[in-house]
Amino acid sequence: MTTRTPLGIGIIGLQEGRTLLKAINQPIPPPVGQPETLTYRAPHARAVAACDLNAERVSEAYAEDPSLFYTSDYSAMLRRDDVDIVAIYTPDALHADHILQAFEAGKHVICTKPLVNTLADAQRLWAASRQTDRKLLVGQSVRFFESFRRQRAAYEAGELGALELADAHYIHRMDWYYRKSPWAADATDWVFLGMSHPIDVLCWYLGPIAEVSAFGSRSALAQSFHVRSHDICAVNLRAVDGRLGRALGHYGLHELPSARNALELMLYGADGTSLAQYHDMRYLYTRPDGTEAREDMLYARRGYYFNNDTHGMHYGEFANYAEAFACAILEGREASPNLAEGLAVFAVMEAVRRSIASGQPIAVPPILAEIRGEQAQ
Ligand SMILES: NC(=O)c1ccc[n+]([C@@H]2O[C@H](COP(=O)([O-])OP(=O)(O)OC[C@H]3O[C@@H](n4cnc5c(N)ncnc54)[C@H](O)[C@@H]3O)[C@@H](O)[C@H]2O)c1
Repeated sequence: MTTRTPLGIGIIGLQEGRTLLKAINQPIPPPVGQPETLTYRAPHARAVAACDLNAERVSEAYAEDPSLFYTSDYSAMLRRDDVDIVAIYTPDALHADHILQAFEAGKHVICTKPLVNTLADAQRLWAASRQTDRKLLVGQSVRFFESFRRQRAAYEAGELGALELADAHYIHRMDWYYRKSPWAADATDWVFLGMSHPIDVLCWYLGPIAEVSAFGSRSALAQSFHVRSHDICAVNLRAVDGRLGRALGHYGLHELPSARNALELMLYGADGTSLAQYHDMRYLYTRPDGTEAREDMLYARRGYYFNNDTHGMHYGEFANYAEAFACAILEGREASPNLAEGLAVFAVMEAVRRSIASGQPIAVPPILAEIRGEQAQ
């Protein structure tokens, strides 16, 4: 195993994957009025190869950064010795195949969310994880965004006291996405594609989930694009320790009033409450005396997170998780969320899908047992 630094990353899927390429290979734009410095977001990771079936996407990336090895043949990228980590940004239904091929080639893997979107793929990944010493990080970008990192640090420092309830949503108008990525309408399910964000953060805070109860419906926008899955989801969760969580998704909404953000996590602790927002990069919380504090990091951090680009791109989050994963590999430890955590989140999403389909509450541990090929208790 190499210990070179920076570790080499090979990216497959050059739409969202191009964000990672730019995030780690281009220097951070300086804040307004400050001189340019050649500082990189992820000093321990550098993109060295990239792959896409779409020749136009390859030539656009090449025009911007010709220093990489580019190919349309994934196996050619996997054969390269300078690729230590494969970062996967292909459509949801292809993730499992691309992960398994990377493991077989001896590579570590970053896989964007959702890790997988079928039980059969979750079972294949579980079986592969028994056979490989390669590491995997699920690219759950929300965990690595500034306001959510601030919220987590305050929670871990005990500022909220014992957490009693968590409430998360991801809501986003998706007509542009169906036009750009038609597979979103017919080859995945919003329970995985969109709800993976709020469900992941609920699992992050509440730990193992015992049971879910969910309902789904279809928006007018989803119907107009002939979307196969429900695109409006309301989910209640009960953790194994009895705490409650709630997740909401809506992918056909009109527009949001500016007070609300596409992604929000509200934490209710015994000694305080807090709210993290994406993409306005706000972190709001109550102090022990009840006064409210508000940190708005957008102007200070938009160069790092948005590359001074469109409000809402993922440069900072993707670089943060690439750096965390590269450091974990170099230091021989696990990074989070790893493959086991990703499969636990998949089990909750699968329970949500089954609950919506059946109209019944669904227990999560038997789904985890199915993934592992064990007899359910
Ligand atoms: N916040 C986030 O972390 C975030 C945001 C957006 C999308 N995503 C995820 O990223 C993934 C990709 O989404 P997207 O919006 O970029 O989709 P997209 O459809 O725009 O791009 C997918 C790319 O993969 C390429 N591709 C498909 N099969 C391939 C193969 N076999 N070999 C090489 N290239 C192949 C396509 O040509 C295309 O360029 C999805 O799983 C999505 O859920 C994550």
